Amino acid sequence: MHCIYPGSFDPFTNGHLDVLRRANALFDDVVVSILNNAQKQPYFTLRERLKFIENAIEAEKLQGVRVDSFDGLLVEHARKVGAKCIIRGLRAVPDFEYELQMAGLNRMLAPDIETLFLMTSVQFACVSASAVKEIGRSGGDISHLVPAPSADEIMERLRKP
Ligand code: PNS
Repeated sequence: MHCIYPGSFDPFTNGHLDVLRRANALFDDVVVSILNNAQKQPYFTLRERLKFIENAIEAEKLQGVRVDSFDGLLVEHARKVGAKCIIRGLRAVPDFEYELQMAGLNRMLAPDIETLFLMTSVQFACVSASAVKEIGRSGGDISHLVPAPSADEIMERLRKP
């Protein structure tokens, strides 16, 4: 069975990687789908975000995982890649309200596609892409927050935009 793991991944963190590993253990195929929406103005380019995730997949030797990007409605893209299930990671209570709304809207749009929530491991509960950007821009160490293969590149980009 296929699933889709969507997000902005700006950038992909160790928390995202933790959720991806869990999804990989449950599904035959996982498509990590990066939202490519110009209005969202991500810090990292789509090309960079794709590369960071590809590097992590390769380093972790994850089988049955690929990465792509989408614009427009997530459920339409899920259909296109043949996914019946959307994976979202949950860290703590503040994530819940937003996720509940998104899952509800996606169910209205596509009742045949389920959203499945996976709890992030406790050690990643405080890790977010925005925290990575904030810490990195201020010259802090982000090497334990993002996958090792891209840590130096992410750090360099954050210090010298
Ligand atoms: O990592 P993020 O920013 O929390 O991911 C949010 C994402 C990309 C999953 C969400 O914004 C999304 O699905 N956008 C596509 C537009 C869409 O389908 N909207 C309808 C449901 S809210």
